[in-house]
Parts: sequence; structure tokens; C-alpha cells
Amino acid sequence: MSSQTDKFRKTFKENIDSHLTDLFEFLKFQSISADPAFEKDVLDCADWVEKFLKDSALKVERWETSGYPVIFAEYDGAGPDKPTLMIYNHYDVQPVDPLELWESPPFEPVVRDGEVYSRGATDNKGQAFFVFAAIKELLKANGELPVNLKLFIEGEEESGSGSMDEILESKKDRLKSDYVLIVDVGIHGMDRPSVIVGTRGIITMELTLRGSNADLHSGVFGGLAYNPNHALVEILSAMRNEKGEIQIPGFYDGVESLSEDEKELVSFDFNPEEFKSLLGLECTGGERNFQPLESAWLRPTLEINGISGGYSGEGFKTVIPAEAVAKISCRLSPGQKVKDIKKKIEDFVSERTPEGITSELLVFGGSGEAARTSPKSRIVELCQQSVAEVFDKDCRIVMEGASIPVGPSLTSAAGGELAFLGFILPGDQMHAPNEHFGVERLEIGFATIARLLELLGEQS
Ligand code: BES
Ligand code: MN
Repeated sequence: MSSQTDKFRKTFKENIDSHLTDLFEFLKFQSISADPAFEKDVLDCADWVEKFLKDSALKVERWETSGYPVIFAEYDGAGPDKPTLMIYNHYDVQPVDPLELWESPPFEPVVRDGEVYSRGATDNKGQAFFVFAAIKELLKANGELPVNLKLFIEGEEESGSGSMDEILESKKDRLKSDYVLIVDVGIHGMDRPSVIVGTRGIITMELTLRGSNADLHSGVFGGLAYNPNHALVEILSAMRNEKGEIQIPGFYDGVESLSEDEKELVSFDFNPEEFKSLLGLECTGGERNFQPLESAWLRPTLEINGISGGYSGEGFKTVIPAEAVAKISCRLSPGQKVKDIKKKIEDFVSERTPEGITSELLVFGGSGEAARTSPKSRIVELCQQSVAEVFDKDCRIVMEGASIPVGPSLTSAAGGELAFLGFILPGDQMHAPNEHFGVERLEIGFATIARLLELLGEQS
């Protein structure tokens, strides 16, 4: 372990009890942004973030939106000759269901075997917390930071960041930064630390097919009515062929890969056995002509996330439902535009909707495009260096198939260079029951951020 980062790890360890007390306070808010029933909890959580950052001696503002507020904190004490780094995190979390599978209640954090268990422990409060803690401790110890800093902490990420566009527009002048660091990603293992240079975009939709204006008896009306469930599966199955290729005309238009140069710098190493033993997963879902990690990072997808219509309770019911609904999402590659993909799917659906059925495609707010950074950029190099020092191992460059919808627009508002950093592990049960994040990773995150600020401060 390098002595440069050892000192930071030591500082964290010395104050571990107060850090865990603070983190637990943060985790206890039921800040589920997708469910309006938790509005007060999300707002209380925003208050907590605001206060915590104010107590750290940052200049803090609360930016109201038509959804949940952004907490924006600033430090400009390093002066105009030093770069400005913007760090992004989110204080909202995913819903907790199925509740019965949690071994301890989701909003009563506990440490078991060195892991903090709680909704949000890994995504993203644990990772936001090590950022806040590093800044607070550095300011406390030195009275100053080596770089200028902006923190952009939002409360809508898990429901698609729907009102971020308005903020990015109205606060454009305040967001200018040389570098943007999104601390909401992971590594593939503790022995394989990495920095991330790309996320996919996302578009989420709901397709509703309607037949009659009420559910029908399938004996009386079977043979007369076009069953919306059938229309739905016909349309859905036409969307993808057996080779894993999406059949929406023009879906792949403009998809950008990586240059050969860039591919050399990104690590595509993949061990299918690991996924098999961890998740019981066979990696057979991608397009046949692509390697697994090309499919997961560089290629777009279309997934059916849920289907409902008719009766699926106990026993049996002879029904032809009035409507059938599917939730569908696409992961997008650079070069694909949300609006354009939406139009192509709409056209595909309306062309295939049979006579006697009407279709409606709703696109949820907060879709976002893919983000990509050059693996050669300065911020990536500096992240690599700090991660490598903390882990005492080489730091790879990889990509992420998941999405942080606001990433590309936040980066263009900032006008800076983007990188993604974070220490979520594949086994953290992110978005699932028993989500957890290691205490050791809090320390690692703390030290990495502290070291990165130091390295950035040495830049001119
Ligand atoms: N933190 C995740 C993204 C992520 C997942 C990074 C796995 C690294 C590894 C983020 O909070 C997330 O879940 N994003 C959603 C966005 C959606 C709800 C609009 C996603 O990708 O599905
Ligand atoms: Mn997240």
C-alpha cells in the first residue's frame, strides 16, 4: 500500500465510529424516489445531505425542481489557477420489495461480517458518503482543499432523473467544471480495480394494447374478440430474432463502437464461470456475433421487463382481458438518440397492431443517452493512479452496461471531461433485498477520493 494513501486510510479508520453513525443516519431515510408515498422521506433525506455538507464548511444550495431537489455544494478556495472537479452522487434509492426476503429491515442499517446492510448501502448512499466524508475530513484537517469542487447530489436517479434537464438549463452557469466524476459505479472484484469510461443510455416504455372496453368471458367471446394478450406477445416476439438481434427497422443506425486504439486500452476480459457460480447465469442473451462484454457495454439492447394482462392468480379464470401491458426498456449505445428510438418503436408497434386492437406506447420521463470518455483523458489517468495506489494493484479501464441517465447532459453542461468511479461489487445485491456495501470499501473510497483531489491539485 502506498504511503500516499495509507495516511487517508488511517484517518478514516481512526474515525470509523463517527463515520458509521453518520452513514447510518443517511441510510435510515426511506428515500424511494419512484414511489410518491415516500415524498416526505426523500425530502427529509435531501435536508440531511444539505446539513451534512453545510457542516463540512462548503457553500451549499438547494435547487428546487418540479421533482426532488438537487443539493449543490461548492468550494472555490483553491483559486482560479486550480482545476474544478464536479462530483455526482444521488441520495434516492430503489423500492425495497420483496420485503419478506430482507434478513434485517431495509431502513435499519446494521453491520454483519464487515458489510453494511441497508437499502442504499451500495447504490448510492454508501458511495456518496465516502465522498462527503473525504471532503469533510480534508477540510477539517487542512482548512482547505487542493482543488475547487462542486458537488451535484440529485434525488431522482433511480426513477430516471426526470427533472434534471430543467436544472441543467437554469443553472448552466454554475456547473462549469474541468472534470466531472460520477461516483455511482462498480468494480468486478476486489482483485480487479477499475475506472469506467462509458455507460449505456436508457429509454423506458410501457406498451398498452386494448381490445374491448371490459374483460370478456372467453367462452362467449372466444372466436369473436382479438385477445390483447395475443396481440402483445405477437408484437413483442417480432422485436427480436433468435440470434439476439433487435428487429425494429433502423434500431442499430448510427451505433458507435470504439476505435481499435481505444479497444486496446479497455479490458474486455471475461470469465463466464464467475457469473455462473455467483448468479446461476449462462451468458447467452447477447447478439451471437459479439463477445459477452461487447454485448453488455458497446451494443444496445431491448428487454421486456414485465408483462401483465388477464388472470395470473391462483387457479384459473376464463377471461379475455380488455387490455395487456408490457414494460420495455432499451439500453442505448453512443450514436443512438432517445427521440429517434422512441419513434422507431412507435412505428413498429403501430404497423403490427392487429385490426380490433388499439396500441399506446408511453415513454417515461428521464431517459438518457449513453456516455463515453476517451480512455486517454486526464481525469481517467488520475483516477487510475489513485485507485492503483489505494489497491496497490494495476487499475484497469472498463465500461458499464447500466445507465446514469443524467451523465451526458451533466457533462455537457459542465463542459468538462467525464469519468466514472466506484466500488460496487457484483454480489452487493444492488436494487435487491439485502443490499450491502463493505466497511473496507468505505475506507477505500474515502482514500481514493482524497488522493484524487491531491493529484488534481498538482495539475495546472
Ligand atoms: N448505480 C446504478 C448504475 C450502475 C449499476 C452502475 C451497476 C454500476 C453497476 C444506477 O443507480 C442505476 O441503477 N441506474 C438505473 C437507471 C434507471 C433506473 C433509469 C439503471 O441503469 O437501470
Ligand atoms: Mn445508483
